[in-house]
Amino acid sequence: MSGPNTDYDPVEVTPLKSDEVDAMREAALAAIEAAGDLDELKRVRIEHTADRSPLALANREIGALPPQARKDAGMRVGQARGAVNQALAARQATLEVEHEARILVEESVDVTLPWDREPRGARHPLTTIQELVGDVFVAMGWEVAEGPEVEAEWLNFDALNLGPDHAARTMQDTFWLEPSDGGLVLRTHTSPVQARTMLTRTPPIYVICPGRVYRTDELDATHTPVFHQVEGLVIDRGITMAHLKGTLDHFAEAMFGQGITTRFRPSYFPFTEPSAEVDLVCFVCRGTGLNSAGDLDSCRTCKGEGWIEWGGCGVVNPRVLVACGIDPEEYTGFAFGMGLERTLMFRHGIEDMRDIVEGDVRFSLPFGTEI
Ligand code: DAH
Repeated sequence: MSGPNTDYDPVEVTPLKSDEVDAMREAALAAIEAAGDLDELKRVRIEHTADRSPLALANREIGALPPQARKDAGMRVGQARGAVNQALAARQATLEVEHEARILVEESVDVTLPWDREPRGARHPLTTIQELVGDVFVAMGWEVAEGPEVEAEWLNFDALNLGPDHAARTMQDTFWLEPSDGGLVLRTHTSPVQARTMLTRTPPIYVICPGRVYRTDELDATHTPVFHQVEGLVIDRGITMAHLKGTLDHFAEAMFGQGITTRFRPSYFPFTEPSAEVDLVCFVCRGTGLNSAGDLDSCRTCKGEGWIEWGGCGVVNPRVLVACGIDPEEYTGFAFGMGLERTLMFRHGIEDMRDIVEGDVRFSLPFGTEI
């Protein structure tokens, strides 16, 4: 601020000269008019009206004038500031209206645009069939048990009476984890979950164990190195092969429809005694062995047999019960194991296992979400 100006000479107070004040006002008004949006107007407002703007500084000079000169100068500066503030308010209002109009256009949503162009995903049918199997057994009061995919060699083999010389233990079938003498494998079946369940629960035991298993097979139309099984295990007093048969008939009908029951063929598994292969009534010819045209050719699905192989089963071997801490004098049980890919292929007429493995959504979509 200038010092007291006792001998008034307007020349000395340059900012208050009429043409200076006019120039400030014109500059401010021009800048206001030129402001293209609200942000720019904000900057112009600061530049031309804030404390350090030319007009504010000029205003502060008024006090330094001798009293007789203050009125004129005050009026000039006051009018200029008033005009600038008015212009600011008018421009602000105009720009706000413009801004709102622009937002309405730019942010509008066209509700008539098609909404279904995003491709929809689908649950994999293996997931849904696994849940469906779970539901069939949970409805009978069973529980679902799970085990790890990296499994102890002892649980995958020894506890199940698969001795060290058993063929399934050779390097051809099993993925061994490094170090190769570390006793860990990628489980080759879901049967170790049987052992885990018997070791951790006390009978009565009614469990179903679905899960992923691994074998050193090449991928082709009927094999895949990673596939799924579902294991069933019952341990209770007085359990017989008849309970097993009734359970599997119910399971088969729940999966494939009324009339698709099972038959047992004598077989061998180290963990069951006696053991059986489970066959299904062929769901294409429904057991007749004839093809659908009714001529003399046989059914292509079962090759005229009337039956197709589904899985393995049997009465739990007492040696397995003993290995898992259950008294075979008190309890007996049954077990079964099926491939889920195979079950899915039967249920939906899928001919190539690679379709299940590849994960193309176009394969999964037609199955819908099921359940
Ligand atoms: N674990 C057998 C396999 O992978 C399937 C199997 C057969 C499971 C008989 C069982 C059973 O529980 O009793 O081929």
